[in-house]
Amino acid sequence: MSKKLKWGIVGAGAIFRGAHVKPLKEHPEVEIVAVCDINEAKAKQAASDYGISAVYTDYRELLRRDDIDVIDICTPNLYHSEIAIAALRAGKHVFCEKPDAVSPEEAQKMADAAKESSRTLMVMRNNRFTPAARYLKAYIEQGQMGEIYAGRCGWIRRRGIPGKGGWFTTKELSGGGPLIDLGVHFIDLAVWLMGNPRPVAVSGATYTKFANNELSDSAHSQFGEKQEGGTFDVEDLAIGFIRFDNGAALQIEFSWASNIGEEMNFIELRGTQSGAHLKKGELSLFSETAGQLTNITPVLPSAIGALGHAEHLRHFIDCLHNRAEPINTPEHGVDMIKILNAIYESGKTGKEVRL
Ligand SMILES: NC(=O)c1ccc[n+]([C@@H]2O[C@H](COP(=O)([O-])OP(=O)(O)OC[C@H]3O[C@@H](n4cnc5c(N)ncnc54)[C@H](O)[C@@H]3O)[C@@H](O)[C@H]2O)c1
Repeated sequence: MSKKLKWGIVGAGAIFRGAHVKPLKEHPEVEIVAVCDINEAKAKQAASDYGISAVYTDYRELLRRDDIDVIDICTPNLYHSEIAIAALRAGKHVFCEKPDAVSPEEAQKMADAAKESSRTLMVMRNNRFTPAARYLKAYIEQGQMGEIYAGRCGWIRRRGIPGKGGWFTTKELSGGGPLIDLGVHFIDLAVWLMGNPRPVAVSGATYTKFANNELSDSAHSQFGEKQEGGTFDVEDLAIGFIRFDNGAALQIEFSWASNIGEEMNFIELRGTQSGAHLKKGELSLFSETAGQLTNITPVLPSAIGALGHAEHLRHFIDCLHNRAEPINTPEHGVDMIKILNAIYESGKTGKEVRL
């Protein structure tokens, strides 16, 4: 591999513009050589805005280029697996936006293709890279929390449906609503902090109550393009309960729209030595020292902008140059999508799903 990695982008939409292009352009070991989008105008605009020399509308043409080392997938969820598998088989390394895939079967095929091609496949887990998450992981690894046996996590929006009627709210293209969109971030973060126990049983409920309402919007609906008269066949609220092989359990809750008082994202972990609460990026630790209850607030840099995304992209590049061990593997991704799929299944059947 040449020292400067030649990078091809597939999908020139919001996340590419908002979180990928800046750290890639700034990285001394990366050159973005091509951009592909089925919407030619978007691909051309991205090429012109960011000085990218080649434009494509079919990702397969991109894969035929021998000089490209990495394919970076920023398309709607349905296409992640198809493009990743084809790219891995064409000998490219793949960085892919979350969620890994829209079903466990597709996620497994991606993991298999990575193994067979001996190429690196990594899916975005930007929330593992915030200063608070990294500090909490180090604190846990020092044994300061003792045994972590229970937790809760969620990302609950009062108003914030991304692109109502567009691909985000169309099950076939997205795989689901806030559970797959937001749950993949925070369930992953919770499971990683808990030490990656294997999920063994899942139960959940999903609701679609705001598909046909005229709701006000919030800044959180910034993603996705609205489509008048489009499809909305995904949930807007998912709640659930996950059991792990080590006896630990995690409660979850994700909404795009819900009549609640406070919007937030959070992870709360209960350990035998201390507890942790990460709420809207602020970390608090709860313990008992010298016979007194203690609350600790670590002083951490704030996670401004798309810091976690930039850090994860840099980590991926470090892994390609053998300077780091991958923080997340395709197998973690398969487990993750299995959990999400089981919550959907349990929501339909009303029964617990054993994994
Ligand atoms: N990590 C995060 O924080 C985060 C945030 C938002 C979105 N995302 C993920 O990023 C991905 C893209 O989301 P977005 O908000 O940028 O969507 P978007 O709709 O703004 O952009 C997607 C782009 O992909 C293009 N496209 C669609 N099908 C294609 C194909 N087959 N080949 C090439 N281009 C294709 C579309 O024309 C569009 O320009 C999704 O998987 C989403 O879940 C991640």
